[in-house]
Amino acid sequence: MPLQNINPTTTKAWEKLESHFSEMSSFSLKTAFKTNPERKEKFSLGFNDLHLDFSKNKVNQKTVDLLVELAHEVELKDAINKYFTGDIINETEDRAVLHTALRSSSEDELLVDNKNIRPEIKKALRKIRAFSNKVISGDWKGYTGKKITDVVNIGIGGSDLGPDMVVEALQFYKNHLTTHFVSNIDGDHVSEIIKKLNPETTLFVIVSKTFTTQETITNANTIKNWFLTSGSQFDIAKHFVAVSTNLEAIDAFGIDPKNVFPMWNWVGGRFSLWSAVGLSISLSVGFDNYRSLLDGAEKMDIHFKESSFDQNIPVILALLSIWYNNFYKAESEAILPYTQYLTKLAPYLQQAIMESNGKSVDRNGDEIGYQTGTIVWGSTGTNMQHAFMQLVHQGTKLIPSDFIGYKTSLYGLTDHHQKLMANYNAQMDALAFGKSKEEVHLELKFSGDNSTIHSLLPYKVFEGNRPSNAILFEKLTPESLGELIAMYEHKIFVQGVVWNIFSYDQFGVELGKELAKKLLNKE
Ligand code: F6P
Repeated sequence: MPLQNINPTTTKAWEKLESHFSEMSSFSLKTAFKTNPERKEKFSLGFNDLHLDFSKNKVNQKTVDLLVELAHEVELKDAINKYFTGDIINETEDRAVLHTALRSSSEDELLVDNKNIRPEIKKALRKIRAFSNKVISGDWKGYTGKKITDVVNIGIGGSDLGPDMVVEALQFYKNHLTTHFVSNIDGDHVSEIIKKLNPETTLFVIVSKTFTTQETITNANTIKNWFLTSGSQFDIAKHFVAVSTNLEAIDAFGIDPKNVFPMWNWVGGRFSLWSAVGLSISLSVGFDNYRSLLDGAEKMDIHFKESSFDQNIPVILALLSIWYNNFYKAESEAILPYTQYLTKLAPYLQQAIMESNGKSVDRNGDEIGYQTGTIVWGSTGTNMQHAFMQLVHQGTKLIPSDFIGYKTSLYGLTDHHQKLMANYNAQMDALAFGKSKEEVHLELKFSGDNSTIHSLLPYKVFEGNRPSNAILFEKLTPESLGELIAMYEHKIFVQGVVWNIFSYDQFGVELGKELAKKLLNKE
């Protein structure tokens, strides 16, 4: 069954939210915390090793209740059931959306086109495990009998961003293999990577669901030609493997069918790191860590599927985002992890979020009269405090921000970690509570510089009342990373349901590709 088709702005909850929004015009986070010492506990949720504190949002209990009412009115529960059971919710491409099945340990039958997909998922996982073990242990040999030292993932978009982000994030858990990612059609990108490689000891993983993507095929051919300057056509099988649905094209490229890992139409590119698209992750950190990543995501899936909306972390995050996007008219959101390991989280989420929910036609085929997909951007703390945070604190725009933190650091440098986390908390406090005229006045007075009080005072005031979420984990592990990624995947889903759009197609990327091809053919 398809998703229901409900314009959120026609619901009773939306109408109530509109008048509630006017009531909230004088809402102050400072006052809210002063008058309610329990606010932090009241607006916090816990699950497994994750704690979400959403108390520093411009909401009161009524806001949360009305947003939850909105979720019920657009039939979110029904949509969640359809999402997990393989209904054709990607209607425009006539596909189910089942990346959640890839990490599920359930033995229950799950049918796609009347076929139970569980056995093929298990088979693919066994193949990933066996292959990863062979390469990592050195049993897999290159064409001159040497062990593999380097792995190169050739792919773009969903066939690059997820694995690249995770490999970077799990560096601490990494083995001896050096992993590289080639994505851009810019020949300088591939040339810089090739420069570092020895063809005798390098394994290339070509990842492309379609195996027709211009960037990936061009890069793969350039690399193959470079490889053939030392190895022969017969050696390709030892150095090139592929992850794809297009078996014919892979065969034409010369890859041994034994070395092809499957992809399925019911997994969207941007949600595919849980499939063999994640092969470079498994090669880089070993299959057991890869499995833990999947386990973490499965835990989040269960939490999302089973918790009531008011206790549901992805649902609450999605609804808060809708509150700012559709009522406060916030244009963007910041993703701010306080760990250097998550440097690539923002670019990864940019594809996941903006390719999914950047839509302006609803599930009726009509143009939408309200705002949909948010613009997301971000970088890691504390570096970004010295870059763009000025605008977030004192600029004219409202930018709701997710602060992602970890209670423990991986190498245990306590002094560093205490400072890091002090900054993490300080930023959210500064955004929420600001610094009033009176405080600035006193500060300048006590500094003894009376002459500057009037000239500097307005510039030193922080109005505060700027929203943030504190997303806090115990530690960055494969499992907690899985939870984090799945949390954002479900947030995307909920927002797409509320906005009455199709989140799982991406026709918007096609026109540019077509025009580029035409221009190329003209030359
Ligand atoms: O740019 C659009 C897109 O289709 C993405 O959705 C996808 O992740 C990427 O291109 C790569 O596609 P493929 O895996 O087929 O090469």
